[in-house]
Parts: sequence; structure tokens; C-alpha cells
Amino acid sequence: MRGIILSGGNATRLRPCTKVISKQLLPIYNRPMIYYPLNTLIKAGIKEILIIVAPERAGDYLNLLGSGKDFGVKFTYEIQDEPRGLADAFIVGENFIDKENVVMILGDNIFEDDLSAEIKNFKSGGKIFAKKVLDPERFGIVEFDANNKVISIEEKPKKPKSNYCITGLYIYDSRVVEAAKSVKPSKRGELEITELHNWYLRKNELEVAMVKGEWIDAGTFDSLLKAQNLAKEKLQNKLII
Ligand code: G1P
Repeated sequence: MRGIILSGGNATRLRPCTKVISKQLLPIYNRPMIYYPLNTLIKAGIKEILIIVAPERAGDYLNLLGSGKDFGVKFTYEIQDEPRGLADAFIVGENFIDKENVVMILGDNIFEDDLSAEIKNFKSGGKIFAKKVLDPERFGIVEFDANNKVISIEEKPKKPKSNYCITGLYIYDSRVVEAAKSVKPSKRGELEITELHNWYLRKNELEVAMVKGEWIDAGTFDSLLKAQNLAKEKLQNKLII
């Protein structure tokens, strides 16, 4: 299994804090934000990790994280010239993924749960993780029927069909590269990750698991503050890096 951390983007919602520093390098209590998703991957035994960064920030990531030797893993870096959407990570990462399964985590997503078993036990298809939220219009949303079967998945719907958000950790087999290449840009001009979920859903090969503990997408000032508190109160003794 290969790992990808997507850490690109301009983070305009967090200006001016992100004017000269990447969002995913802002401090969350006593560590840079990216340490938390990195911890999730390293804890799950992932040894080869691709970090996708924006061109103007690449040097900062190299200085902070280096080769990976200090963490007992190997980092590879790729530049994402434009923030073309989450699904683009699998096109940028095509050579890195090769024929392996891949787990991608977003550089601003912080999970309290230990997802190691879910990552280690993955065999094929696609697996995503949902969490009930109060602000579903901000996220990818999954709708279930009475038997918990997935009916629909929509990206940031104006009228959400449920409160179950798809969190930023995705496990796919290597066909995800082919799937990503088939995605057309959305109205906002991005290759949406929800298209990949739907690609596997259409083949009846998508599994959705629930996130039990806290989960935060630290992309706004309020969620950043929440993440700081979560890190201080609950995550300190769970971190291995
Ligand atoms: C992205 C995805 C969305 C997902 C969210 C989780 O949104 O497009 O489907 O629910 O991450 O953090 P973004 O945070 O890039 O707006």
C-alpha cells in the first residue's frame, strides 16, 4: 500500500495567515498541521509516502520533512502546478502508485480514530469514511437507504440529502488512476473526488465506513481552533511522530 498526502492549494479562506505559509504547515497546538495526517499513515505502517505540494511552498516541505529518514519512511514529492482538484492527485501520482493500492489523506484532515486496521485490511475497490456533521453543504455528502446501502454521493450540494459527510481519507486500488483520467472538470473547474467514489459505486465496489471519533477539516478559522483544542486535549498521547 502506498500513501499520498495532498497538501497543495492556496487556502484563501485562511488569509492573511496563509499568505506566506502553506495552510498545512500552520501549527495545530505543538506540531505543524501535516504531522497529524502523516501520523495516521505512518501508524498504519505505510512506508512510501508521496507529498503533493504547491510550487511556491515546495522548499518549506523539504526543509521540514526531508527524505523521511527521521520518520522511518521514504517521502517522494510532486508539484501540483495548479489546484486542479482532489482527483488530480492520482494523475500527478500515477508513476508513484504504479500497480499498488493507495491511501490518500488530505493535509488538513485530522482524525482522532486509529484507522490502521482499515488501511491494512483493504484488498480492492474503493473505501471511504463518513461522519455526521452539522454543516453538510461544505462537504461531499453520502446518502444511504434504510439498509445502509449507498444511494448517492454529491459534492457540496446546496440541498444535502443527508448529514453524512465524506471525510478526507480515501483508499482505492490502482484503477483509481484510470478513473481519475476519465473525470471531467466540474462547474468550479475542478476534478472532484466524488466522481471517483461514484466510479467505484457504479461498479458496486465502494465501501463506506463510519468515523467514530472526532474528525476535523481544519480549513476555516473556526475548525482550526477546534483542531487546536482536539490536539491538546485528546491527541497528544496517540501521536507517534
Ligand atoms: C474536500 C472534498 C470533499 C470532502 C472534504 C473533506 O473538500 O472535495 O468531498 O468532504 O474535502 O475534508 P475541500 O475541503 O477541498 O473543499
